[in-house]
Amino acid sequence: MTPKLILDLDTGIDDALALAYALASPEVELIGVTCTYGNVVVEQSVRNTLAILELFGRTDVPVFEGPGHARAKDSFEVQEISAFIHGQNGIGEVEIPDAARQVEQTSAVDFLVDSVHKYGDELVIVPTGPSTTIAAAIEASNVFRDGAQIVMMGGALTVPGNVTAWSEANIHQDPEATDLMFRSLRNVTMIGLDVTLQTLLTTAETTKWAELGTAGGAFLADITNYYIDAYKTTSPHLGGCGLHDPLAVAAAINPGLVDTLGVNMKVDTEGETRGRTIGDEARLNDPDKHAAVAVRVDTTGFLLEFMHRLSVLAQATPVV
Ligand code: BDR
Ligand code: CA
Repeated sequence: MTPKLILDLDTGIDDALALAYALASPEVELIGVTCTYGNVVVEQSVRNTLAILELFGRTDVPVFEGPGHARAKDSFEVQEISAFIHGQNGIGEVEIPDAARQVEQTSAVDFLVDSVHKYGDELVIVPTGPSTTIAAAIEASNVFRDGAQIVMMGGALTVPGNVTAWSEANIHQDPEATDLMFRSLRNVTMIGLDVTLQTLLTTAETTKWAELGTAGGAFLADITNYYIDAYKTTSPHLGGCGLHDPLAVAAAINPGLVDTLGVNMKVDTEGETRGRTIGDEARLNDPDKHAAVAVRVDTTGFLLEFMHRLSVLAQATPVV
């Protein structure tokens, strides 16, 4: 059976690139996208996801809406820094038409739970935003808790955070949810800043997409150029933008792109280190390591795959 994939996106710019990577990967079948809040509010994440799928001619992929905020909070507002990096609309102020279709009636949590029931270990779920929806699925179903396989973008083990000195953006939104995920699931791969900040893109690459002269090529180039510009302000030392979310999708499809360390992880939920992803001292001597944390990445191999796959995908869209 072709392995199944579900993405859980807070559809900003690198989430859009992650979605494109999944659409361009014949090794897996993308059976659905669940949407969460983070870079944008959840309704905008749904809107962007549906519109991008339509742009790439993939109206067969169903889209589901998840919770709009962390359980510990009453509401969610996009942080200024998120709007600066991803634009007010989440996709670098680039305008693409709304999709003709609507989000599914089934909730994201029900879809995730049903999919784990149906596909078991044939399914990998790739969350690239806050862990809120995953935590809700864990609480909803023991089958999900015992059987879900996750390759997540988030956290930082060997490097500082990107929102606070301790905390990476996705974890920062809902530390309790990621902590529950690390403590409950048996099969989590963490693709954190340790590796995602070693996979950078520059305008040398986005120019190639623009030169394709297609709607898909223009979209990918325009959103990524916006993201590269933001990185020039927020992280000028990097010399490019971090391909956080696409690396998680690529590692889910080809685990050989990263080397991992087995660790029983937790998230600090109190005090100044709130949001830190770190080994759980209470489970240090447990020989079963439930998380694999990526600490090395084949940067060249990933970037080659990334450019090749997204270029083939964009080439197949209408000429503009
Ligand atoms: C993560 O935070 C979001 O802004 C990005 O989409 C990515 O998932 C990087 O810290
Ligand atoms: Ca994201």
